[in-house]
Amino acid sequence: MSTSNLESLRFPIARAAKSNEPPKELIQLQDTCPLAKLQLFDGTPTWIATKHKDICQLLSTKGLSNERYSQPGYPELYPSGKKATAETPTFVHLDDPKHAEQRAMIEELFTRERIAALRPEIQRIVDHVLDAIVEKGCAQGPVDLVEDFATPIPTRIIYGILGVPEKDIPELSKASAIRLSTSGSATDAGDKHLHDYMSALVDKRIQAPGDPKDDLISKLVVEQYRPGHVTRDDIQRLAYLVLVAGNAAVISSISLGVLTLLQNPEQLNVLKEDSSTATAVAVTEEVLRYHTPSSLNSRRVAKQDTIVGGKIIKAGEGIVGAVQAGNRDPDMFTNPHNFDIRRDIDPDKNLAFGYGPHRCQAQWLSRVELEVAFATLFKRLPKLRLAVQPEDLEYTSATQNVGVSHLPVYF
Ligand code: HEM
Repeated sequence: MSTSNLESLRFPIARAAKSNEPPKELIQLQDTCPLAKLQLFDGTPTWIATKHKDICQLLSTKGLSNERYSQPGYPELYPSGKKATAETPTFVHLDDPKHAEQRAMIEELFTRERIAALRPEIQRIVDHVLDAIVEKGCAQGPVDLVEDFATPIPTRIIYGILGVPEKDIPELSKASAIRLSTSGSATDAGDKHLHDYMSALVDKRIQAPGDPKDDLISKLVVEQYRPGHVTRDDIQRLAYLVLVAGNAAVISSISLGVLTLLQNPEQLNVLKEDSSTATAVAVTEEVLRYHTPSSLNSRRVAKQDTIVGGKIIKAGEGIVGAVQAGNRDPDMFTNPHNFDIRRDIDPDKNLAFGYGPHRCQAQWLSRVELEVAFATLFKRLPKLRLAVQPEDLEYTSATQNVGVSHLPVYF
């Protein structure tokens, strides 16, 4: 790719129409210009790193900051990001030591051990969601797996972690679905409802923490609010963050994973014949690598001149770790553009959850949700098949994180 072509590229680069593949120009950059300077939507220049090793370096070096709200050079990808810069930051957009301090407040609920103990509950929820699909049946037409399977699983699980009472879940799920819809005004309405609900729940827990007090909000009230380490609003912000942070990525991972398995029947048969945790782990890790459904948030701004991939990122300049490209780097993964559940991926090398101190706090939770979802879906519904041609599927907007809008199936 020539330099003049490069200068005309805008980041995020659009995916091809009707495709869930990373933009081909992003992959070309890895070969021709692994540390490239592209423009954002408003013409601001930003660095884009596409090699796995450079992305790991930039996401773990102290010279680059994730303090989005206090530094004008932080790369914003859409006009709405400019609005977001007025918000009070959670730890997601703070640097250490403040980041580590806040992250630690909820870490206990997301450790690998704690999530392993949650597996039976996740299985119960997935079974329950599938019971409803079986009961509905497809005599009246195909079932949309995005709406009826991929969405309720992470939504219900996160409500459980937050301590939302069972009786409130149906109504809140409706608000979550509205929030995830693409219509701007509907999204705002869903947001407001969820905000108001979480605000009321925080007040309720401050008056009387749940019993047992192991839900996230009660834990923050007892351990952080009562001793005076955080304010009521801090708790609300953290609870809302956990509620919305990763739902869309889990939904996309489940939906795209099911689609990709259906398109690779020989690999799907491996899972159908052996739905053990080990096989589900291999499927999940490869789905996450291959699709990398949260690929636009690994962004940083240089606090001081910092060398990445042999180039100087000057203080104040923005840089994006293109994790979707990093997960297709041939120096790290053989035949990276092939979907292959037989790879033995080291989870630490999988960039789907980012890298370094800001690596996704819910990575183990998300993995177990996917493992249980894939294994159980094809065990319960082995005849599951697409109700439309793959080329008729609709995807999320071409410059946003990859996701499929609907996945109509028969079973
Ligand atoms: C498949 C599902 C998911 C994917 C692919 C994903 C991806 C990511 C990525 C790439 C980052 C790093 C951002 C950065 O470097 O700036 C991240 C951070 C984070 N994710 Fe996830 N995520 C998923 C699910 C979730 C869920 C379900 C939750 C909430 C329970 C969650 C909560 C967070 C939080 C709190 C952070 C910030 C961590 C920090 O700054 O220390 N994620 N996620």
